[in-house]
Formats: sequence, structure tokens, C-alpha cells
Amino acid sequence: MNINLRPLEEKDLDAIVELEQTSFHKDVWETKETYLKRIVTFASGNIGFFLEQKLVGFMCTELWLKQEEYPLERFNLSHDITQYYNEEGKELYISSFALNPTYKHILRGKEAFKIALAFYKENLSFDSIILMVSEEWKAAINIYLKFNFKEITRIKNYFPNNSDALIMRTNRV
Ligand SMILES: CC(C)(COP(=O)(O)OP(=O)(O)OC[C@H]1O[C@@H](n2cnc3c(N)ncnc32)[C@H](O)[C@@H]1OP(=O)(O)O)[C@@H](O)C(=O)NCCC(=O)NCCS
Repeated sequence: MNINLRPLEEKDLDAIVELEQTSFHKDVWETKETYLKRIVTFASGNIGFFLEQKLVGFMCTELWLKQEEYPLERFNLSHDITQYYNEEGKELYISSFALNPTYKHILRGKEAFKIALAFYKENLSFDSIILMVSEEWKAAINIYLKFNFKEITRIKNYFPNNSDALIMRTNRV
């Protein structure tokens, strides 16, 4: 597998937005500015999967000062990373994860997730991971369960199509 991983850079922004629009329904697209702030604020937490020079996937994260529970607006799409990011934080929040399905035969989600976590473990210091996922994103949920994430909260009818949002966390990192 000729996949290379590296922090996302400003020059990748157009490719990020294109991939976002390929992978997610338009109701949940996040803005280019949101991605730019993520990259500028937390370079080693926002990484791309590249095949040769082509961006085929990405994962975005934030570090948060850990709380057992957070106000639900924390998880809002397109929120500004600088509102909550803290470099001393020990909770890694996965704000986005997507792959281009065209390259699924080369890089599957579960493999990408494993590679990304290995990168974060090597480069960051955290002791739990939290994320939000739609109940309808079955492949993603399947991956998170494999990596010991458990549902800790469910927000009824959160998404524009009225699907529930699951907040999932793992303490086994
Ligand atoms: C989430 C995403 C990265 C996963 O990548 P992927 O290549 O589809 O994932 P995988 O093929 O590795 O699938 C993971 C598991 O889910 C299963 N799966 C895939 N689609 C499924 C579906 N519709 N229903 C149930 N299970 C499904 C797979 O069979 C696999 O399980 P297995 O290992 O037991 O066979 C990709 O689907 C994507 O970019 N989706 C759009 C964005 C998104 O939902 N991001 C998540 C944000 S929280």
C-alpha cells in the first residue's frame, strides 16, 4: 500500500473541500474556513492520507481539556477549533474523518483509522478519544466499535435529516 500520511497544509485546502463534498451529504458539509483554522491551529492533529500526491482521505482532531461530559454545542459542525482547543488537553476529539470511496480498494476506512491512531499515539499525548457520528454512518460506527469506542450519549434528531447523533468515547488508547 503506497499510502503516505502527513499533516494537512494550506495548499491541500481545495482537495480537502472536494473530498468532503464527495464523502458527506451536503447538509453536513463544513466550511473551508473551518478546515483552514484546524490546519493552522493544530498541524499534527489534522492529517491527510496521500496516494502519490493525491489526497484520498483525512482525519481532523482537536485536543480538549477533559471533562466527563461536555455541553452539546461543543460538537457542532463547523465550530471554530480555537474555541476549545488546548494543547495541554488529554482528550482527543475527532472532528472529521473521510475517505474518497474511489480508492476504497487501496485504503479502507478501518485501515486508515488504525494508521491515523498510530500516528497520533506517536506524536501526541492524550488518554481518551471522543467523537460524534450519525446513527446512519454505519461503516464509521462499525470502525469505532472495533476500536473500543462506546456510545456515551445520544442526541435525538440532531442531524438535518433527523437522524440521531451518537457521542462515542474510548479510554483504551
Ligand atoms: C467512514 C469511512 C471513512 C469508512 O471507510 P470505509 O472504507 O467505508 O470503511 P470499511 O470498508 O473499512 O468498513 C468498516 C466496517 O464497516 C462495515 N460496513 C461498511 N459499510 C457498511 C454499512 N453500510 N452497513 C454496515 N456495515 C458496513 C464494513 O464491512 C467493515 O466491517 P468489517 O471489517 O467487519 O467487514 C467512509 O465510509 C467515509 O468516508 N464515509 C463518509 C464520511 C463519514 O461517514 N465519516 C465519519 C464521520 S464520524
